[in-house]
Amino acid sequence: MGRGLSGETDPMEFNDMHPSNARSNDVLFTKTRRRNKRLIIIVVVVALTVLVSLAIGLGVGLQDDDENLANLPLHERIERAEEILSRYPLIDGHNDIPWQYYKRVNNSVWSIALDQGWPEVQTDIPRLRQGKVGAQFWAAYVSCDSQYKDAVRMSLNQVDTIKKFVARYPDTFAWVTTAQGVLDAFKEGKIGSMIGLEGGHSIDSSLGNLRMFYDLGVRYMTVTHSCNTPWADNWKVDDDNSYEFDGLAPFGELVVKEMNRIGMMVDLSHVSKQTMEDALAISRAPVIFSHSSAYHECPHNRNVRDEVLPLVRDNGGVIMVNFYSDYINCSHTASLAQVANHIDYIKNQIGADYVGIGGDYDGVTRLPVGLEDVSTYPDLFAELLRRGWTPGDLEKLAGRNLIRVFKEVERVRDSLVNEPPFEDYIDASTWNNLTCRTGP
Ligand SMILES: *[C@@H]1O[C@H](CO)[C@@H](O)[C@H](O)[C@H]1NC(C)=O
Ligand SMILES: *[C@@H]1O[C@H](CO)[C@@H](O)[C@H](O)[C@H]1NC(C)=O
Ligand SMILES: *[C@@H]1O[C@H](CO)[C@@H](O)[C@H](O)[C@H]1NC(C)=O
Repeated sequence: MGRGLSGETDPMEFNDMHPSNARSNDVLFTKTRRRNKRLIIIVVVVALTVLVSLAIGLGVGLQDDDENLANLPLHERIERAEEILSRYPLIDGHNDIPWQYYKRVNNSVWSIALDQGWPEVQTDIPRLRQGKVGAQFWAAYVSCDSQYKDAVRMSLNQVDTIKKFVARYPDTFAWVTTAQGVLDAFKEGKIGSMIGLEGGHSIDSSLGNLRMFYDLGVRYMTVTHSCNTPWADNWKVDDDNSYEFDGLAPFGELVVKEMNRIGMMVDLSHVSKQTMEDALAISRAPVIFSHSSAYHECPHNRNVRDEVLPLVRDNGGVIMVNFYSDYINCSHTASLAQVANHIDYIKNQIGADYVGIGGDYDGVTRLPVGLEDVSTYPDLFAELLRRGWTPGDLEKLAGRNLIRVFKEVERVRDSLVNEPPFEDYIDASTWNNLTCRTGP
């Protein structure tokens, strides 16, 4: 409040009321009138202030009124969803268009006009824009067949492919390697583009290779793909209890610790349940699941089991839900509502702070009705609005949670700046029959 309302501290007011100020009746009358006028002005100002505050309060109340948003017709909910994704970036954890470039055109980025649409695949620039994608982890994936052979060479090619298409469309994509970079690119209307290395086989059991991939800009590594590495079990061992290491072998623990040290996010999609638990126990920074859904909703070993959910919460990590029909409905068909069920389930179990989006577009062939390609994200957010999600929680789902994890991973890296690199190596003599390696 302004000084004018507290009369006692106003010297003029004090003098007016002082009895020693003898004046003629006329003067006194004028003074009283002036005082009344001032009082009226004060009352009006106070009343207006109260009214304006009430109106603002009501407006804010309406905006946050979940009931109200939930009851909007679909097209209005889609508009609201698009508004939310214009305010805060949707950061998808996993897209396999680099693999499509490899399979379809031998990584010839310049043979495809991605800005004109690429209807044979699920991702192109017009549809990314329609889907309000704000940032994307592009997967550098190479098949497990390349393990012990040319996995490193092939992975380097996929990193190169991502850098090529990001560079080819500078009005659309911005190359970023930091959490702040994502937010800055979004402000400029660009899709912040990052690399996730999908599978520990890509480093060929070399911490040196891991560090060099970081230097190339890779910001997460999936600890395994769908094959064991010589130091970690993948999800398939849970299908038939064929554990090789019962989670992470000692070298696998070093891989996780070195990732923490250099600031590479640890991705636990594709690993076995025990590998998840071992990594969560040893990681010094929050982890991600770049594209995994809820086991409770569909009991598939690629999904995250109930027992693991509280560990992710305690770790401060994020589970970015995969849209693959086979992981959503344990079947070749699924619906958008079922994807929302997975997201709701994780939120209800551990809270809205630990869930995100990792659609797995172009890594899968079967997608739920309504989520067929990268243009459809706003429809999913509209469905969550209908279910009572607040705009604030939807911003967390879209990207705030991932940014929180990313910043914390960067902070841990900075705090470990004095820790020397791990120089351990794995003894390959026991599997030299499988490899073209000539030494450690
Ligand atoms: C990609 O390379 C393979 C092997 O050399 C070749 O058979 C295939 O025709 C190539 N595909 C394209 C689209 O160039
Ligand atoms: C989910 O899968 C079952 C078969 O397991 C199928 O009958 C059902 O239609 C599927 N649901 C949707 C929404 O596709
Ligand atoms: C490779 O060598 C190891 C150790 O000698 C053996 O256990 C394994 O069966 C061999 N694998 C193949 C594919 O020959």
